[in-house]
Amino acid sequence: MLRIVVLVSGGGTNLQAVIDAVSSGRITNTEIAGVISNNKSAYALTRARQHGIPAECISPKDFGTREEFNSVFLEKIKELCPDLLVLAGFLVVIPAAMVEEYRNRIINIHPSLIPSFCGTGYYGLKVHEAALARGVKLTGATVHFVDEGTDTGPILLQKAVEVKSGDTPETLQRRVMEEAEWKILPQAIDLIANGKVRVENGAAVIES
Ligand code: GRF
Repeated sequence: MLRIVVLVSGGGTNLQAVIDAVSSGRITNTEIAGVISNNKSAYALTRARQHGIPAECISPKDFGTREEFNSVFLEKIKELCPDLLVLAGFLVVIPAAMVEEYRNRIINIHPSLIPSFCGTGYYGLKVHEAALARGVKLTGATVHFVDEGTDTGPILLQKAVEVKSGDTPETLQRRVMEEAEWKILPQAIDLIANGKVRVENGAAVIES
């Protein structure tokens, strides 16, 4: 059984997609051991508690320094003994020590086709604003492993989504979530839980 801990900051629709996929059997061999948010009022925490999943908040704002936060954050994660950390709309930079401790065991969902519209400053609606400003006709979502950079780790899954004329950042964000994010994040977890993924020479390889 793969023990996952999901890290969130906001509404938690990706978390919900994972919860639903575990319940329906689209994700197998997986137990959600906990949900952690940096934001006390994140609706994602409510979603977790409604499903009986231990959920708590740890925020950099409650610590004097980022170093202090980072070390308490890492300890809290270790107490949950996760096999995989899932970043589902988590807006805090993962400390280098955590990347090291959980090398190739942290995945993130990003709402574009990496390497487009990613890196520092590209989060939430900003990603979709940039895609519309550039006039791309296809965008999408990416699940990737987390390394020391921002959105630079090995790419595991991607799914393209059409940009439609008249799209606003909000309509595009919604379509990318519905057609891509809520599908490939559960799919990625299921692949990992069933031993189908390995990282080789900096690239994620999926076994058929
Ligand atoms: C998603 O678009 C995700 O790709 C991004 O943040 C958003 C989180 O949405 N990283 P939600 O909290 O899962 O609803």
